[in-house]
Amino acid sequence: MENNIAQHRPQWKSHLGFVLAAVGSAIGLGNIWRFSYLAYKNGGGAFLVPYLIALFVVGIPLMILEIGLGHKMRGSAPASFASISKKWEWLGWWQIIFVMFGIVLYYSVIISWCLNFFFFSFNLSWGSDPNTFFFQKFLMLSDNPFKAGDIRLPIVLSLVVVWFLNWFIVFKGIRRGLEQANKIFMPLLFILTATIVFWGLRLPGAMSGIRVYLTPDFSRLSDVRVWMDAFSQIFFTLSLGFGIMIAYASYLPKKTAIVRDSLVISGVNCLFSIFAGFGVFAILGYMAKTTNQPINEVVKESIGLAFVAFPKAISLLPHFSKLFGVLFFGSLVIAGLSSSISIIEAFTSGVVDKFHYKRRTVVSVLSVLGFLGGLIFATRAGLLWLDIVDHFLTQYGLVIAAIFECILIGWIYKTGVLRSHINNYSSWKVGSWWSFCIRATVPLVLIGLLLSSLQQEFTDPYGGYSRLSLIIIGRDWLLITLFMAVIVASHPWKAEPSQGMIK
Ligand code: PHE
Repeated sequence: MENNIAQHRPQWKSHLGFVLAAVGSAIGLGNIWRFSYLAYKNGGGAFLVPYLIALFVVGIPLMILEIGLGHKMRGSAPASFASISKKWEWLGWWQIIFVMFGIVLYYSVIISWCLNFFFFSFNLSWGSDPNTFFFQKFLMLSDNPFKAGDIRLPIVLSLVVVWFLNWFIVFKGIRRGLEQANKIFMPLLFILTATIVFWGLRLPGAMSGIRVYLTPDFSRLSDVRVWMDAFSQIFFTLSLGFGIMIAYASYLPKKTAIVRDSLVISGVNCLFSIFAGFGVFAILGYMAKTTNQPINEVVKESIGLAFVAFPKAISLLPHFSKLFGVLFFGSLVIAGLSSSISIIEAFTSGVVDKFHYKRRTVVSVLSVLGFLGGLIFATRAGLLWLDIVDHFLTQYGLVIAAIFECILIGWIYKTGVLRSHINNYSSWKVGSWWSFCIRATVPLVLIGLLLSSLQQEFTDPYGGYSRLSLIIIGRDWLLITLFMAVIVASHPWKAEPSQGMIK
């Protein structure tokens, strides 16, 4: 049964274009401040131990799986899973629905905060008290998720810009949109980040920050939370379980180095995080020195790292402080956009594969919905909603979806079939260790992770929020996306997806 999804499928213009786009999706806001913050909170250099273990045990095997699957099936996540078994199509929809109607909604709002701060940098608008500025003047944060208050105009205005850019890039298609944008974004991001890191390292006090970054506090490794943070960060940062890598790989030509690409994408992403961490810690060291505070008192939470500690440090710089702010927030906007466009693409390809709607119509409708859905995160309770939704979608949604993905590929489709496809097209072969990882190690590790998150949820509700708000905003958000996925999956296909579309 030859399939017209495969026949009319667009293709990346160049191999480098694919790698840059995948790296662009992986490198995002999460790499710059989420990673640094987690390292800072979880024992500095010691955090690199669980982080690298998570990369090798779960990250790389799943990256190979997703790229291999997309390449073999030549379809989006729903189409690829449906080709294996119609009963599992819901899983693909669930992944792209909870990311499109969950993660990307608040992710775009964070990009719009960055855009605001980009402009604030021109005259250091945060003044001498960035904490009050961020929480009270900019977000006007309310004290309860159910007291949303009004929508913050500056955030909405930049949210319009962010969604316009998302729309514009994805609307132009794979080659002229995503590939082109990433070809500009990625080198620019590397240059900006390198400038920040080298600038930071030359500041007085930088070395005390680097010492905190690199000195391992191994006692932290006995805490399960540290391990949970490391594993969920690997998922988030590599965009795994999002359906993105499957969709991106479906636009690859037949001849592709699947294994090598998976290693390059994962490696570049993680090295980027570790590299950016030097910049962040150098700046924190500088700030600690100038304000005479110990480093572990300068940052209270991850959001605070980018929007409170950094602005403070920027104001303290003796020369070119405005330029530094512009570079820092500019690079966050670029890193964020190259990730948000990837999920819009993953969702669009799912809808086009199944319903054969016009791609451009889908992208336009999605961008409007994405903007409207993001408005809740632009209210005065936005940060609280963001925190709860992020916790549930990343700690549960991504992890549960990945467990099912491993069961489907490992036990129903059989890893051997996919492995021989991957090895057929790669000069670097994967051994039986990979099958073992997908069938046993990865799902077992993830199940363990899930159970400990659940246990913690009951003993110590997340973030000190009321149970009611966690249930209504967090759990129910996840359940509604699951419900939507089941409905869409039960809808008939316009043309049947078929297995092994590569001839
Ligand atoms: N990998 C991204 C990051 O680290 C996360 C992401 C990808 C978010 C795609 C949204 C869409 O920031």
